[in-house]
Amino acid sequence: MDFEIVDLNAIEIMDSRGNPTVEVECTLSCGIKARAGVPSGASTGVHEALELRDGDKKRFGGKGVLKAVNNVNEIIAPELIGADCREQAAIDLEMLELDGTPNKSKLGANAILGVSLAVARAGSHVCDLPLFAYLGGSCANSLPVPNMNIMNGGCHANWQGADFQEFMIAPYGASSFRESFEWGCEVYHALKALLKDKGMSVGVGDEGGFAPQVSSNREPLDLIVKAIEQAGLKAGPDVGIAADPASTEFYKNGKYVLNTEKRELTSAEMVAYYKDLVADYPFCLLEDGLAEDDWEGWKILNAELGQTIELVGDDLFVTNVERIQRGIDENCANSALIKLNQIGSLTETIAAIRLVIRKGWGAFVSHRSGETVDSFIADMVVGFDCGKIKTGAPARGERVEKYNQLLRIENTLGTAARYAGKNAYVRGVRF
Ligand code: PGA
Ligand code: ZN
Repeated sequence: MDFEIVDLNAIEIMDSRGNPTVEVECTLSCGIKARAGVPSGASTGVHEALELRDGDKKRFGGKGVLKAVNNVNEIIAPELIGADCREQAAIDLEMLELDGTPNKSKLGANAILGVSLAVARAGSHVCDLPLFAYLGGSCANSLPVPNMNIMNGGCHANWQGADFQEFMIAPYGASSFRESFEWGCEVYHALKALLKDKGMSVGVGDEGGFAPQVSSNREPLDLIVKAIEQAGLKAGPDVGIAADPASTEFYKNGKYVLNTEKRELTSAEMVAYYKDLVADYPFCLLEDGLAEDDWEGWKILNAELGQTIELVGDDLFVTNVERIQRGIDENCANSALIKLNQIGSLTETIAAIRLVIRKGWGAFVSHRSGETVDSFIADMVVGFDCGKIKTGAPARGERVEKYNQLLRIENTLGTAARYAGKNAYVRGVRF
């Protein structure tokens, strides 16, 4: 039988920050081999599935993943050898049972995810289908808006200024993915020239965005608007702005502490702060405007801005259907960030995507700040018609590889390809 898993082999590789991560290779009886690499976050939410690290301070400051590697090779592999690689859900559920904990703390979400993705990729190869079509079927043809994180702050940068972690551009006004990516690259280069002109640093953060010192959270927004215009585009109609303040990182004792502005704001005051930003800049999306357990604050945020822009929960929902369902029941947001390693298996990730789409919410597919060159999420976003992706700046190989994979997919689809554009955002765009 061609589809039978005959080997699963994990090794420890390095991610884009020089930290160890898990890579799994799946071998089928027909000889096909497929690999997957597991990403890793820095501003991780406390409710995420557990990323198993060795804790042995003598290796990588405790960040080794040999325990997770061993769990694949010694515990998961013997269980799954002989399984049909196309039975993704059954395979994922079997690993969940084998783990038996609510947050994958026995085997590690990194061990489980590596196997889950390698098995899916092997399935696409043996079925002789591109991964996006294997995942999403023969009608999958929607290319996402690339939300490109061109200025990095917070814990992704050596940045003594802005509190916000990510300032993204959304070239939604283009007519194809290729054109939108080109626009994004041009804005990125215009921004670099602008920063150089001003004598500001053009060193980049973890996700490839520039990370100079700035004096407020508005300064990066002003710089980006200027760069959009210098690239010959219109801020608003052509290119919108999205931000991920990753506010859990600056939520201290019930207050949002904005160091750049020397202010401490309540949840309601923080919402008013965002309302002013949305009035002054062409925002289409705001992620993690409030902290991971500030459910009451999120209700205010959604009441005030939820009809105007897309409000995405990342640390709030952690790609977990139970937390997303609570958000739906309590009207806390209108979109969920989708990160494979937050929940730890492909089947559960797809369940989260399906839940939000069924409820008319957005599904915003995301990389992590620590990445490998694995481009699985590019195929996933097309397969499930999520409409938008964030995978950093058009710089640093592990970021660009995802965008390049989307170029390849668009090319494969040819005239059948459709660009999600302005409709990708749950509230559309205001221009
Ligand atoms: P992380 O950041 O991968 O470091 O968690 C990404 C995000 O907060 O969206
Ligand atoms: Zn985030």
